[in-house]
Amino acid sequence: MAINRTSSHGEWSSRTAFILAATGSAVGLGNIWKFPYITGENGGGAFVLIYILCVMFIGIPIMLAEVYLGKRGRLNPIASIKYISEKENRSKNWRVIGLIGILAGILILSYYSVIAGWTMAYATRAAFGVINNIDAVGATLMFNNFVSDPERLLAWHTIFSIMTAIVVSKGVKSGLESAVIRLMPALLVLLLALVIFSAIEGDFVGGVEFMLYPDFSQVTWKTILIAMGQAFFSLSLGMGALMVYGSYLSSDISIPKTCVIVASLDTLVALLAGLAIFPIVISSGLEMTQGPGLIFQTLTVAFGAMPGGQLFGTLFFILLIFAAWTSSISLIEPMIIWMIEKYNLTRIQAATISSGLAWLLGIGTIISFNVGSEIKIFNMNIFETLDYLTSNILLPLGGIMITIYVSWLISKESINKELNIKSNILRYIWYFSARFIAPIAVIMVMLNALGFSIDGVL
Ligand code: PFF
Repeated sequence: MAINRTSSHGEWSSRTAFILAATGSAVGLGNIWKFPYITGENGGGAFVLIYILCVMFIGIPIMLAEVYLGKRGRLNPIASIKYISEKENRSKNWRVIGLIGILAGILILSYYSVIAGWTMAYATRAAFGVINNIDAVGATLMFNNFVSDPERLLAWHTIFSIMTAIVVSKGVKSGLESAVIRLMPALLVLLLALVIFSAIEGDFVGGVEFMLYPDFSQVTWKTILIAMGQAFFSLSLGMGALMVYGSYLSSDISIPKTCVIVASLDTLVALLAGLAIFPIVISSGLEMTQGPGLIFQTLTVAFGAMPGGQLFGTLFFILLIFAAWTSSISLIEPMIIWMIEKYNLTRIQAATISSGLAWLLGIGTIISFNVGSEIKIFNMNIFETLDYLTSNILLPLGGIMITIYVSWLISKESINKELNIKSNILRYIWYFSARFIAPIAVIMVMLNALGFSIDGVL
């Protein structure tokens, strides 16, 4: 048994703490900001249905595989896979999965933190009544003015980076766990309050119909691929975040049940976010297909016009800050635990270095919206390049390697022991999904991401 396998590693105090932490990682800007707008762009109900199927048949099987790696390895992602490979007589090169994950985490955090900064700015604006009675033109102007000012973006990005660094520098128990235990329930309560507000003030029936009524005439292969990619990002898969959280699990906890709960909560929050947003969008006569600006431009108009909008607008953006915060913690944790274990750094040193790096890289995203908007890599600005590289290449690559490595190369005894799926049928379903459905599906996402449209082929 390797020395030091648990010494620098903490442990969750309960299964609930793990569920909250993993849900905190999964629920973020992806659910509340991205899910509604891509659902809006892709026709509503049919997209939601496909998304849910992707979560069930691709997301959950890969999630099980990823948490398995962490729970068995009980080290940082790179060392966990190296350790497991030694035990299973497999090539140690598979540890590149860990490296890809650490890199993806820091790259995602660099722009995630900038967008989280926007939500802080908008929470402040809402609280001070700046968005009261704003019209669509005013909201667009406000948004454009805001993102064209690098100093402001940098200030909010810096504040958010420090918030993340403070929580992770405190460690698993006192930092991560106590943060998520407070934040996650608060988030759910705020979201429910928002849905109720939306039901009273917005066009609730219209919103529900839009989300639940499937119109398959708009579905193309690309729609399916987008839904699948979103399932990936939203569940925090493919970059070692859940591997690290799994490594803090004590060995007697059932992985499958826990993963199903986390995936369900994540999906529930995305659906609730849709229920909170679409009725307001419809009742205000605004566009479903607004794109990434949906929240920052459209909702300010909606909240600004509604009775109680100042309070509820503020609560909504605060909710987004919480969601982004608990996700950013999990984006940075793989790098932190790797630095602690590999280079013997203290948690504070590791947190300072990794947040500093993400902060520095974040400047690239900041200038993408203003002074550096002309800087193009493959015809995309820096922010778009980072988003493309991570969501469309690194996460799917990590996910496919994880599912292939675990389902094909790990001994059945170990899988049975750690995953402990009691029912034979469920075990076969997992194997079939992890070995065939998930890898094939992820390859399709990647082909799409790399620009090979399969519309013409199928
Ligand atoms: N799941 C987060 C969201 O939906 O916003 C984003 C994310 C967090 C992606 C952690 C990947 C990750 F490892």
